[in-house]
Amino acid sequence: MLQSYFLIIVLLALPVYILVARTSSCPKPCICKKKGGTASCRGALLRFVPVFPTYVTKLYFSGNLLETINASTFRNLEGLKLVFISLGQNGITHITADAFSGFRFLLELDLSRNPKLTPLMVADAVAHIKCINFKHIILNRMIWRNEPTELYISLSHFNIQKLEMLENNFENLNMTLLSENLAQLKELRIGYGVISIIQPGYFQKLEILDLHFNRIRFTKDFFGNETTCYLPQLVKLNLAANSIASIDKLFWCLDNLNVLRLDGNPILDVLNNTFFYLPSLEILYMGNLGFRFNRIDDRAFQSSTLKQLWFFNNHFVFIKDVMHHFNETEIFRHSPKLEYLDLRGNEFPSIHVLEKMLSPVKSLSQLIIDNCQLITLPENLFSKLPNLFYVSLRNNRISSWNGQRVFGNQSSLRTMRLTGNSLSTINERMFPRKALTHLSMLFLGNNPFACTCSNVWFKNWIETEQSIFENYPELYHCKTPPEKDGELLKDGIPTQFECSNTKNELFTAIVTSLSLSGIVFVIIFSLIFRLRWHIRYWLYLYRVKKKEFSLITNEETDYTFEAYVIYCDNDLKWIQRELLGKIENESEISLCIRDRDFEVGKVYVENIIEKMNSSRRIILVISHDMVKSNWCLFESRIAQEKCLNKESDALISLMVEDVSEENMSSSLRAFVNSASLSKFPAKEYDQEQFWLNLTKLLRNQR
Ligand SMILES: *[C@@H]1O[C@H](CO)[C@@H](O)[C@H](O)[C@H]1NC(C)=O
Ligand SMILES: *[C@@H]1O[C@H](CO)[C@@H](O)[C@H](O)[C@H]1NC(C)=O
Ligand SMILES: *[C@@H]1O[C@H](CO)[C@@H](O)[C@H](O)[C@H]1NC(C)=O
Ligand SMILES: *[C@@H]1O[C@H](CO)[C@@H](O)[C@H](O)[C@H]1NC(C)=O
Ligand SMILES: *[C@@H]1O[C@H](CO)[C@@H](O)[C@H](O)[C@H]1NC(C)=O
Ligand SMILES: *[C@@H]1O[C@H](CO)[C@@H](O)[C@H](O)[C@H]1NC(C)=O
Repeated sequence: MLQSYFLIIVLLALPVYILVARTSSCPKPCICKKKGGTASCRGALLRFVPVFPTYVTKLYFSGNLLETINASTFRNLEGLKLVFISLGQNGITHITADAFSGFRFLLELDLSRNPKLTPLMVADAVAHIKCINFKHIILNRMIWRNEPTELYISLSHFNIQKLEMLENNFENLNMTLLSENLAQLKELRIGYGVISIIQPGYFQKLEILDLHFNRIRFTKDFFGNETTCYLPQLVKLNLAANSIASIDKLFWCLDNLNVLRLDGNPILDVLNNTFFYLPSLEILYMGNLGFRFNRIDDRAFQSSTLKQLWFFNNHFVFIKDVMHHFNETEIFRHSPKLEYLDLRGNEFPSIHVLEKMLSPVKSLSQLIIDNCQLITLPENLFSKLPNLFYVSLRNNRISSWNGQRVFGNQSSLRTMRLTGNSLSTINERMFPRKALTHLSMLFLGNNPFACTCSNVWFKNWIETEQSIFENYPELYHCKTPPEKDGELLKDGIPTQFECSNTKNELFTAIVTSLSLSGIVFVIIFSLIFRLRWHIRYWLYLYRVKKKEFSLITNEETDYTFEAYVIYCDNDLKWIQRELLGKIENESEISLCIRDRDFEVGKVYVENIIEKMNSSRRIILVISHDMVKSNWCLFESRIAQEKCLNKESDALISLMVEDVSEENMSSSLRAFVNSASLSKFPAKEYDQEQFWLNLTKLLRNQR
């Protein structure tokens, strides 16, 4: 009795146990998530479909090996309310017509990447899906060579909303046929194909049309005829990377179009009012147009709704020349709602163009001018754009700017990207903090920073407001000096203390060099002073040579003076009292006395030469002072020159004091020795004879 009870309990509990096991365990190596009801067996290389917990409604089963599929393949899924299944890349070669007949809740089916499947096989299988709400089918990379028209027909008894057929190989697309069978389509994606011939069709509900990367030349009749607009609900249109050369008058009939992608078409120009007839257009992509793009008309971007313009990598040179047409003041003047402007990958030969182009766009809030070969920031622009909060200037060649002129008194900028420029020094002049009160994100990485004292202000700024510096410290490196190349800026910049020391060092260096040069100057000056007579003499020789002065006047001339007297200032009294008195006054022999006869205003050297030349003889008054006087030595050297070839009696030495020869310079000694020397007698009674002899000597004309 007890045993049979036990048996009953076991028999009753078994299915419960199995049920519990079923619901709780996820088959290996799949991953199940109760929240969201998903099971993923991607790339598990399974040859069968295992049992899943009952909460699973979405099965990701791509990358397995279900080569042939029939109804029994999905036997283990019978208890599930599956709404999505992906069977992509299973190497499926065959699907029986009834394979999907067990799917009573299926909304989405993905059969992508099974190129051995034919459109006909897929058409037969999907026709048997037992769910009337089935609405999405994805057939990417089937590499079908012909348009799957039979599939359209078999899908016609569902309300298909989304059809995706990327990466297929058919050239014709008959959107008339498609629209007749899938009239409820909201989303159609047939990109990465080779479609070149397209027959337009009327889709009452189509909101998203993606035909990018085909070979289509769209014409005006694609969007409507005289009576009907074919795509009245279209919101997003992607025509990127096709063969569109002209977009003039192309866009119309698209009253709900909000996003238009035209990138990568070989478009040559944008003429007036191209987007004017798109009353809902807010986002326009027009990048990568190629090197032949050359013209933007004044009203090309005229639109009362356009908010985002992506005009990147067009290599357009914003300069008015033979090759490029645009008007800097008009280009964006007719886009009053423009908020986001991407101009990266173009060129602005003059930075002032940006101010003229953009200052009318008061609504602009985000501006991208990366990769434009800019060397500085535009002046008088940011301050004129009250809504501008984001500016990206990455990968230009910007090295410096005047912050006052760039940001004005007040700028609304919050984010600036200056990564990858040529900034080596950042200073307060470039980032006037008073004007940049809103700045909260700054990207300055990948610039060739100088890790020298010039960046001490910058380092202090980073330390006080580190949160605004994005990617700091990892993207901030030193470039100079060479020994710090590659080091992190954080570690490379010397401290303020080190720099103030360096300043002292600099100061010391300046002082040292100044004092050194002062010393040199003093030495040179004193040398000049010491050698001044030599220098004068050399100067004299030079003048003589130049003027071809005759030093030696051999011809008999009328001399103004009988003798030129060389003396030193201290002997002047003796000269006046004795020499002049005895010789000039009593004997009427004229003498040339420097202090009396030199012409005022004439250069001394010239006076000497002139007076010596007009004197028959030279009297050298030798005294202790005279021997020491540079001036007298100078005079005596000139006299020496002058007398070199004259007879010895041209020179008379008068020794008024006993000067021993040792005290004379060697040249003076030689000079004195060559002259007739008379000592002025100390005793008065001898003096009379002395004067008599001298007078005689002076009178004795040759
Ligand atoms: C379904 O396919 C499997 C192989 O994948 C095969 O063994 C089985 O017999 C097929 N069932 C039917 C009903 O054709
Ligand atoms: C496209 O399909 C429509 C409707 O079935 C048909 O009338 C038309 O001839 C087809 N066009 C082309 C080019 O095949
Ligand atoms: C315009 O297209 C619609 C929808 O395809 C069609 O019904 C209508 O006859 C066409 N009108 C003209 C003038 O071709
Ligand atoms: C475009 O519009 C501007 C201003 O209205 C006009 O001067 C210009 O001639 C127009 N361009 C063309 C190609 O019609
Ligand atoms: C640009 O347009 C303005 C306004 O129409 C005009 O005054 C100016 O001459 C134009 N500039 C050039 C270079 O054509
Ligand atoms: C900016 O500052 C200058 C000089 O301080 C002043 O004349 C000018 O009015 C200021 N501009 C604004 C917009 O505050």
